[in-house]
Amino acid sequence: MNLANLNKIARAMVAPGKGLLAADESSGTIKKRFDAIGVASTEESRRDYREMLFRAREAMSSAISGVILYDETIWQDAKDGTPLVKLIQDAGAIPGIKVDEGTQPLPNCPGELITTGLDKLAERLPKYYERGARFAKWRAVIDIGKSSSNSPIPSMTAISVNAHALARYAALCQAAQIVPIVEPEVLMDGDHDIDRCVEVTTRVLNKTFQELRVQRVALEGMILKPNMAIAGKKSNKQAGVSEVAEKTVRMLKNCVPASVPGIAFLSGGQSDEDATAHLDAMNKIGGLPWPLTFSYGRALQAAPQKAWAGKAENIQAGQNAFTHRARMNSLAASGTWTA
Ligand code: 13P
Repeated sequence: MNLANLNKIARAMVAPGKGLLAADESSGTIKKRFDAIGVASTEESRRDYREMLFRAREAMSSAISGVILYDETIWQDAKDGTPLVKLIQDAGAIPGIKVDEGTQPLPNCPGELITTGLDKLAERLPKYYERGARFAKWRAVIDIGKSSSNSPIPSMTAISVNAHALARYAALCQAAQIVPIVEPEVLMDGDHDIDRCVEVTTRVLNKTFQELRVQRVALEGMILKPNMAIAGKKSNKQAGVSEVAEKTVRMLKNCVPASVPGIAFLSGGQSDEDATAHLDAMNKIGGLPWPLTFSYGRALQAAPQKAWAGKAENIQAGQNAFTHRARMNSLAASGTWTA
């Protein structure tokens, strides 16, 4: 492993005023997004949509450090035959790849999930590297709630096996000279308040870093992609922007070693503007040991999807909408955004 090189890539992923575009929706997820705008999800429409984003030159070169791709996309070419990875590289951004293969029910833990994809990962990684990927992503999903038998979710079992899988993935990536994005996502689907989110996320992050250490992952050669401290969507006790920012920063300072080169949040179903406002408020607090930036999927893409609506004549409008969100999040990444 060349740790200096991994660290250099990781730092480029969180360069000042830049963040990641998560465009790695699985075929099932992108179909849901396309259904919402009345677009049939085909190999071609998925390609056209993503080509539109990657050709938004201003956004891609000034606000986006890297793009997380889905397996189908990394092998696709633009309409004119240029590989999509080349469009990303030409804009000065780094291609990355989602390598997990989604989730399965976790045996003995009703209602909980384990992320799959470790088998054959060692063989897949060099092929992605050769195609241009310099970082990867693996998402573990932790829910907050109650099981059908009324036991609390998450169980320690789910936290532990998902942390173990994240660390197995991270170690394999580093051996293949690929920077792992370690994403233990605590969902915001429930009716829990912000303090319950902090409690669960703290346990999840602590267990994840414990496993990373056990498996000898070099923390200087990874990026953490966490959820923010936030109340569940169904909670009637929503926290304001400053409370989210203060509690998230405090939680991360308690759990994330300073040697981690950067933290790039997921948006997780927050509104576009909330995702921007929360990130900005955290960076305004300042004095943090790591850069805090975005690795947003929905919060960067909901607006361009709506503006594009699958029509070639709307490509410019789609790119403008994407550029706007990218620019707002770039400002938030340096704590200089104003509502
Ligand atoms: P969202 O920002 O839509 O949560 O997606 C980010 C991501 O990559 C989830 O794995």
